Amino acid sequence: MRLEMAPLEGLTTYIFRNAYAKYFGQIDKYYTPFLSLHKEKEFNHKERQEVLPENNEGLFVVPQVLTNSSEDFLRAAHTLKELGYEEVNINMGCPSGTVVPKKKGAGMLEEPVQLEHFLEECFEKTPLKISIKTRLGMEEEAEWERILAIYQKFPLEELIVHARVREDYYKKPVRLEAFGKALEKSPYQVCYNGDIFSVDDYKRLTERFTKLEAVMLGRGLLRNPGLADAIKKASGEDELNEQEEYSEKLQALHDEIYAGYQKIMSGDRNVLFKMKEFWSYLLYSYPDMEKRLKSLHKLKNCAEYESWLRVKG
Ligand SMILES: Cc1cc2nc3c(=O)[nH]c(=O)nc-3n(C[C@H](O)[C@H](O)[C@H](O)COP(=O)(O)O)c2cc1C
Repeated sequence: MRLEMAPLEGLTTYIFRNAYAKYFGQIDKYYTPFLSLHKEKEFNHKERQEVLPENNEGLFVVPQVLTNSSEDFLRAAHTLKELGYEEVNINMGCPSGTVVPKKKGAGMLEEPVQLEHFLEECFEKTPLKISIKTRLGMEEEAEWERILAIYQKFPLEELIVHARVREDYYKKPVRLEAFGKALEKSPYQVCYNGDIFSVDDYKRLTERFTKLEAVMLGRGLLRNPGLADAIKKASGEDELNEQEEYSEKLQALHDEIYAGYQKIMSGDRNVLFKMKEFWSYLLYSYPDMEKRLKSLHKLKNCAEYESWLRVKG
């Protein structure tokens, strides 16, 4: 089984990806959080750092773009090719209220005719392989069949399906039956995404969909960075060599991320914000999560943060 790390804006940055790969590994494919393409300046400084080859050495990373303009897509694809990439991913799943009204992200699913036209123009001239990360539709899963029929017209490298519609955001139950339709008829690789938080979740999914070859992990991996390891062990795919203890690896992951953000960000506030985001997922696995989150959110600077780390337990 191929395990992929989901792109999570602000969280799965190159700092996180590198530290994760160093201490946990077991992820076969990474994606950058979405890069918004701008007319005048293709990538801003932060986005450029995400895709620079020296910041992604030794990892299989696919840059993800958020755009509905084939012109902007093609320009970015050429830049990414020059940087050495072979694949680019298009975001057709972002549910955000600032993205969807612009007909980007999941908003692209609302206009199937435009969607097909956009893909025709992208595929006609792309210098890179194209994969898509999509939801099932905007409002209801009845939309999925039509959207899927469009994807099937194109030689996608991979279709990653977050098994929800936009209106489900991140909380409503995943729609497995609709996901199954993508597997039935797809001429390309299909990757499942959504709510895999435990080895049991993974087992249930793969027992139901025996043809599945790839699973993407997002919040489950942030809550428990050892999840990919546990999944590969449970499927007998890991190398079974001596592993450092989980807590030591977690400590090393934390320290590397903390040092990484301190190096590239100015001021305690920004670094602290990043670490708060990191812990807001990780604390799920701690008892008294609410209490710990409350004390975390009150911290004002890195000195306070370091004291919090010591008493956190
Ligand atoms: C904070 C946050 C940021 C996200 N950023 C992105 C993104 O940049 N690109 C993208 O395709 N999906 C993004 N997603 C969606 C995730 O990649 C994933 O599809 C979703 O969390 C469901 O998978 P999970 O249940 O394994 O987390 C984001 C989700 C969250 C919660």
